[in-house]
Amino acid sequence: MALRKIVEQGEKCLTKVCRPVTEFNPRLHALLDDLAETLSEAGGAGLAAPQVGILRRVCIVMDEETEEYIELVNPEILFQKGEQTGPEGCLSLPGKWGLVTRPNQVRIRAQDRDGNWFEMEGEGLMARCFCHELEHLDGHLYTERIDRFLTEEEVEAYFEQEEVQ
Ligand code: NI
Repeated sequence: MALRKIVEQGEKCLTKVCRPVTEFNPRLHALLDDLAETLSEAGGAGLAAPQVGILRRVCIVMDEETEEYIELVNPEILFQKGEQTGPEGCLSLPGKWGLVTRPNQVRIRAQDRDGNWFEMEGEGLMARCFCHELEHLDGHLYTERIDRFLTEEEVEAYFEQEEVQ
């Protein structure tokens, strides 16, 4: 395993549509392992391959319950329901937050590192994370969905409010 460099907004690789994975080989496994190590070091809820300069449809998302990374290869959204609005950040835009509206419930299907298809459902933060990471694979950042960045005070106020609920 190795740490990879997370690229920041402005790099072309963050604006490209990524290619599907067709070979479930040691190279893919190394990429998934590296994504996990890099995300664990950076601290965050998810990381997509284009964020480390690899234009393939691969990402990982933190499972809130088990605190393990879910590996998603060639993921697709099957259905989405409801709505939530909250602060969202991205490791490619360090220190920044924006208010983003996302579906509250999302069902996806994806392949695992060996090519087996599986389905999964996420609610709340997980649903937000699925949407955010899958958008990376089509070259989109959350900043396309916001009017402005949140101030530090606004972000803090949002998280405090959530703790109370
Ligand atoms: Ni991101």
